[in-house]
Amino acid sequence: MSHLFQTYGRWNVEIKEATGSWAVDTNGKRYLDFVQGIAVTNLGHNHPKVNQAIKKQLDQVWHVSNLFENELQEKAAEKLATNSSGDLVFFCNSGAEANEGAIKLARKATGKTNIVTFLDSFHGRTYAGMAATGQDKIKMGYGPMLEGFHYVPFNDPEALLACEVDDIAAVMLEVVQGEGGVNPAEADFLEAIQAFCDKHQALLIVDEIQTGIGRTGTAFAYEQVGLDPDIISAAKGLGNGFPVGAVIGKKALGDAFSPGSHGTTFGGNMLAMAAVNATLDVIFKEDFLSEVKSKGAYLLSKLQEVKQLSIVKEVRGKGLMAGIECHQPVGDYITALREEGLLVLPAGPNVIRLLPPLNVEKAEVDQAIEAMIYVLSNEKVEV
Ligand SMILES: Cc1ncc(COP(=O)(O)O)c(C=O)c1O
Repeated sequence: MSHLFQTYGRWNVEIKEATGSWAVDTNGKRYLDFVQGIAVTNLGHNHPKVNQAIKKQLDQVWHVSNLFENELQEKAAEKLATNSSGDLVFFCNSGAEANEGAIKLARKATGKTNIVTFLDSFHGRTYAGMAATGQDKIKMGYGPMLEGFHYVPFNDPEALLACEVDDIAAVMLEVVQGEGGVNPAEADFLEAIQAFCDKHQALLIVDEIQTGIGRTGTAFAYEQVGLDPDIISAAKGLGNGFPVGAVIGKKALGDAFSPGSHGTTFGGNMLAMAAVNATLDVIFKEDFLSEVKSKGAYLLSKLQEVKQLSIVKEVRGKGLMAGIECHQPVGDYITALREEGLLVLPAGPNVIRLLPPLNVEKAEVDQAIEAMIYVLSNEKVEV
């Protein structure tokens, strides 16, 4: 019997080793990994620069409390501030914890209560993360929820502008909803969000936990859509697999997070910071990010071939975050793809989500497309 709580519907596969885009299971079967720990190992598995940085730090010092000055944290924070609309960074350990911090910061800085978020959003599994999430299934059985969260349909500017909530501390948004089905926000909706924030003097929180750290072809996805967030939450790809999260905020919010107002024991841990610095040194480079953009465009162009299949309704995405929406549930297709040697994920019942490493080879994209065309056109797959 397993002594683990059965919170995950696990696949019947155990990965023993992995390098770059490839993972090998305990039976020696090789997989092209377009999951990458769910947008975590953005540089692929076992990246030499990140490995080297962690190994070096391992022999120096792992952890000291946040009572000490910490140059590694300063360096990592500077990289995040230089590459975002924010100036100040708080390090934590996960995406949900970053969103928790973002919501606390917004409420404390504004002195206001309400947070507007969107249907089908996903912001994590803590109480604030669940409350912010616009999906009932995430909250079932865990009530009462944290108060003060209001949900508006996604990509519906009229519904947002008609929202009559007052005392709004912040609007919280994913630029491309990840877990909710790889849904990019549309331009008129984004304009309405910025106007709504201005009208209510509400802060804009952009949850870049899945879309950030180069995933969509820029350091953060909001850059491509003309937003100016006050707070950004990041995690997942930030440490290329080392658990770490960050709340990034504008300088004006600095007083709200004064000494003693927020904290976490492990936040900014030195091994995590070594991983973050090495990861960002590779990803936050113009050449690297423009390659991600061009590979993303290549992936989306190749997906047009998949779109021709009768079960496919739509293909969409931004950069190297893509979704294939089908006319039917995709669970059995995902299993069949895995058997063919391609690891992909669902996003909601009908969407296959692709999250290749940012340094994926075009030949690997071709291989994945070939597997998808083979499996998705196979009527024998039981659905
Ligand atoms: C957009 C978004 N926000 C928050 C989270 C929660 O992050 P974590 O699982 O690290 O707590 C996720 C995780 O999938 C996410 O995709």
